[in-house]
Amino acid sequence: MTSLDNIKACVFDAYGTLFNVHAPVGQVASKIGDNADAVSNLWRQKQLQYTWLRSLMREHADFWQVTGEALDFALGFHGIDDTALRDELMDLYLALDAYDDARSALAALKQGGLTTAILSNGSPEMLNGAVGSADLAGVLDEVISVEDVGIYKPDPRVYELAVERTGVEYPHQICFVSANTWDAQAGSHFGFKVARINRFGLPDDVMPGKPDALLDSLNELPELVGIA
Ligand code: LAC
Repeated sequence: MTSLDNIKACVFDAYGTLFNVHAPVGQVASKIGDNADAVSNLWRQKQLQYTWLRSLMREHADFWQVTGEALDFALGFHGIDDTALRDELMDLYLALDAYDDARSALAALKQGGLTTAILSNGSPEMLNGAVGSADLAGVLDEVISVEDVGIYKPDPRVYELAVERTGVEYPHQICFVSANTWDAQAGSHFGFKVARINRFGLPDDVMPGKPDALLDSLNELPELVGIA
C-alpha cells in the first residue's frame, strides 16, 4: 500500500464517513415503505445541493436548518405529509450510528500519537449529538464545524480551519479522510494528503484534486500514515 510521510493529524469528514446518514430512514423504513431508500438518497442529495447553493448565494443557514429543508423536499417529492415522521427523522439525525470501523481507527491513530479531528458541515449541536451517541469523544482531539467560518465545504476557508485548529504547519501534514468524492478531491486540491473511504463504490469525480489513497476500511489508516 502507498504510505503517506510526515502526517501529524488525521481529519475526518463526519456525515457519510464516520456516521451513517442512511441510518435514520433505515430505522423507520417500515413507515415509509418501498420508497424508503429513494427518500434517504434524495434527502442526502438535496442536503448537499442546498449547502452549495446557499454558499454561492451568500445565504448561509446552519446544517440543521438545511438538513430539515432537504428532508421537507424529499418527503414532499414522494408525497409524504407526516409531521410526526419528519420530527422523528430529524431526532434520529442527532443520534446517528457510527460505521463499525470509525471508533477502532480513531483510537489507533490517537494511540499512535496523531491528532484526530472532525471537520464537518454539521452545526456544533449536531456534531456533539452524533459524537456523543457514537461514544467517539474520547478518541477525538477536535470537533470542528463550518459554523466557525459561516460557509460550507468546499470553500477553502473551511479546509483552512483544520490547519489552524490542529496546529500543523502545512496542509500536507494532514491526512484528510472523506467518503464524499467531491470533498476528498476538494481537500486534495486545497493541499491535504487525502484518503477516500470508498463506502459507496464510486469512481472519482471528474473535477480538480485526486485522493492519494482509496480505502475499503478506515482500519487501513494507521498503516497508510506509517504508525502500524
Ligand atoms: C460533512 C458532510 C459533507 O460532514 O458530509 O461535512
